[in-house]
Amino acid sequence: MNTLAVQVVVLSVALSFIPAIVAARMATNRGRSGIVGALLGLVVGWIGVVIVLLRGTADSDVRRSDTRAHRECPFCKEQMRCDASICPHCQKESPAWVYDAGEWRKPSSSENAVATSRETSKSPTALLEIRDLHVHFRTRDGVVHAVEGAQFSVERERTLGIVGESGSGKSVTAMTVIGLTRFPNATITGEIEFDGIDLVNLPDNQMRSVRGRRIAMIFQDPLSSLHPLYKVGWQIVEAIQTHEDVSKSEARARAIDALHEVGIPSPEKRIDSYPHELSGGMRQRVMIAMALVLKPDVLIADEPTTALDVTVQAQILDLIRRLKDEYGTAIVMITHDLGVIAELADEVAVMYAGRVMEKAPREVLFTIPELPYTWGLMRSIPRLDAPRPGRLDSISGMPPSLIHLPPGCPFHPRCPYVMDICLTKEPELKESEPGHLVSCHLEVKERQRIGRELQTEYRTGPDAS
Ligand SMILES: Nc1ncnc2c1ncn2[C@@H]1O[C@H](COP(=O)(O)OP(=O)(O)O)[C@@H](O)[C@H]1O
Ligand code: SF4
Ligand SMILES: [Mg+2]
Repeated sequence: MNTLAVQVVVLSVALSFIPAIVAARMATNRGRSGIVGALLGLVVGWIGVVIVLLRGTADSDVRRSDTRAHRECPFCKEQMRCDASICPHCQKESPAWVYDAGEWRKPSSSENAVATSRETSKSPTALLEIRDLHVHFRTRDGVVHAVEGAQFSVERERTLGIVGESGSGKSVTAMTVIGLTRFPNATITGEIEFDGIDLVNLPDNQMRSVRGRRIAMIFQDPLSSLHPLYKVGWQIVEAIQTHEDVSKSEARARAIDALHEVGIPSPEKRIDSYPHELSGGMRQRVMIAMALVLKPDVLIADEPTTALDVTVQAQILDLIRRLKDEYGTAIVMITHDLGVIAELADEVAVMYAGRVMEKAPREVLFTIPELPYTWGLMRSIPRLDAPRPGRLDSISGMPPSLIHLPPGCPFHPRCPYVMDICLTKEPELKESEPGHLVSCHLEVKERQRIGRELQTEYRTGPDAS
């Protein structure tokens, strides 16, 4: 019998004496024996107790199906909450039960795969792999081709940088990974494989167990992910308790530790602040603290430093690097800033008009970039390592409408190297050197020659001889 049931019985027994005493007094007043009256009263009282007990049993049946119900850990056989995925006793990860139509049930084998695949992953290299991803949105103005055949992968302890101008499909790609573009007007095709799990077709309830715990995402504006009406500490505690079976006080202690780790001063006080009471940098740190406590396998950082000043930016990048080094987290860093890419990324994917148009290891991309669009991006940022500043040029024209894309190469209206073929035929993403993929009709040797020359000019200034 649980504690609540014991309390109910004790109270009922105590209360049963009240009708007994009343009946005894009434019997005495009417001249009968007080003992007979008291016995009658007790019988009446115990009938009440039996009714209360029966109701209590029914109530506990109801409670068994609620979120606090317990089950046995498959490893240590101790009791754990049905919705917990980590056993509080042996700390092993076991599949959380599935809350389905108001009832808890054992997960099916495919649902099990979500929770256990971390141990059984067969791919030691690509932890997250995107193949031929297409995301289209039907709108009143036409179909937005936000992502067209995007492909890339990221490994544990590695950082993939995704770079491109605004509107090139970076955020839509990232949000599709964690199921945040499943709108009624969206069509999503292609493959997103995470640790053996097919994320494109993963049901929403299972996606929730992947999102946050295994793949976390931080956005440019943390206010869009932090609830404005809840204290930041409450939000971190909630995130911990959603994925782990820990007490509130333990979760709060961990939240304070995490806030301390990300450099928030007086975390035991700041934990009770509302998001609007913190600066932009602090809010971003809170988001990173949330990622720190959950230790995700993949962290997708979508322009996390764009709204921050340079000093805070450097600190945030440092924290993201630590997450990778200390927990082996794979990082997907989305930015329009090649400076951030140069500092953090191992691999770089350059996106334009929803496509990955160049992909290479960082040092290759920064030594021999092969795509005219990448050349344009590189010439538009100042470099501190140049002996004297080179010429800074912005890319002429505007990014194309993703509803009415130009035929052929989507970059052709802005490309200084455009050829006839570029107007009609879209170039394929092909390997020019091992690991270096480029989507451009220019001859490989020509691209490499121009890329080298531009880099030399860029480092030494336009008048260098
Ligand atoms: N829900 C949506 N409905 C229609 N169009 C969208 C939606 N979300 C994004 N888009 C469009 O998809 C394109 C790519 O957006 P996005 O991925 O946010 O670009 P960025 O590279 O700047 O992150 C943009 O043209 C944007 O307007
Ligand atoms: S395919 Fe043509 S238009 Fe496109 S980037 Fe290459 S040269 Fe420029
Ligand atoms: Mg974006």
